[in-house]
Amino acid sequence: MEILRQAILEKGRVLPGNVLKVGAFLNNQLDVKLLSSMADEIYNHFNNKGITKILTVEASGIALAVLVAERFGVNAVFAKKSKTANVDGELLTAECYSYTHKVMNNLILGKEFLLPGENVLVVDDFLANGQAVYALKTLVEKAGANFSGVAIAIEKGFQGAGDKIRGEGIDLYSLAIIDSMSDSQIVFR
Ligand code: G4P
Repeated sequence: MEILRQAILEKGRVLPGNVLKVGAFLNNQLDVKLLSSMADEIYNHFNNKGITKILTVEASGIALAVLVAERFGVNAVFAKKSKTANVDGELLTAECYSYTHKVMNNLILGKEFLLPGENVLVVDDFLANGQAVYALKTLVEKAGANFSGVAIAIEKGFQGAGDKIRGEGIDLYSLAIIDSMSDSQIVFR
């Protein structure tokens, strides 16, 4: 998606450790106009799949997930990374290791918010090592719902998870795929 690639080139910054900082429009400040266009693009790709629920993980995936859900006319749900006081009832859980933060998170979602037979589209801001996507897929399967596809804003293609996920026949749609990056250059697929 050209306007997202332009935003990455103009406002993104590559930090040591292969981390792309995009706080100017995605991870801290939210560029609502850009995010709205991204949501339109995701809707156009998945609109024939009978999507009934958008699923993401807190925190940075939520903004895009909400805009996408609005396009489909359905609700968005987000998995939490820890059990807080306002979580009760029957829970779906899935382990998720974060390579970036070097911690194991237990993703948690109230069972009542993902029902058997629902067609679920997973939305997230970044695809790096794919742990979040696989953990969200586990939640969908535990719910007895259908894993209908994955929409990602920025895929770090050089980390390999995207190709693995596509190789498994999953409909993965990334709006920008970065094949390599350094502090002087970002190369898109
Ligand atoms: P995964 O998301 O593919 O499983 O990969 P990983 O475990 O490495 O990612 C851990 C966190 O770091 C995720 O957010 C992910 O979105 C984010 N991340 C990974 N690579 C980059 C990057 O190059 N730039 C930025 N800005 N983020 C990256 P999280 O921990 O769930 O954080 P948040 O959603 O609460 O912000």
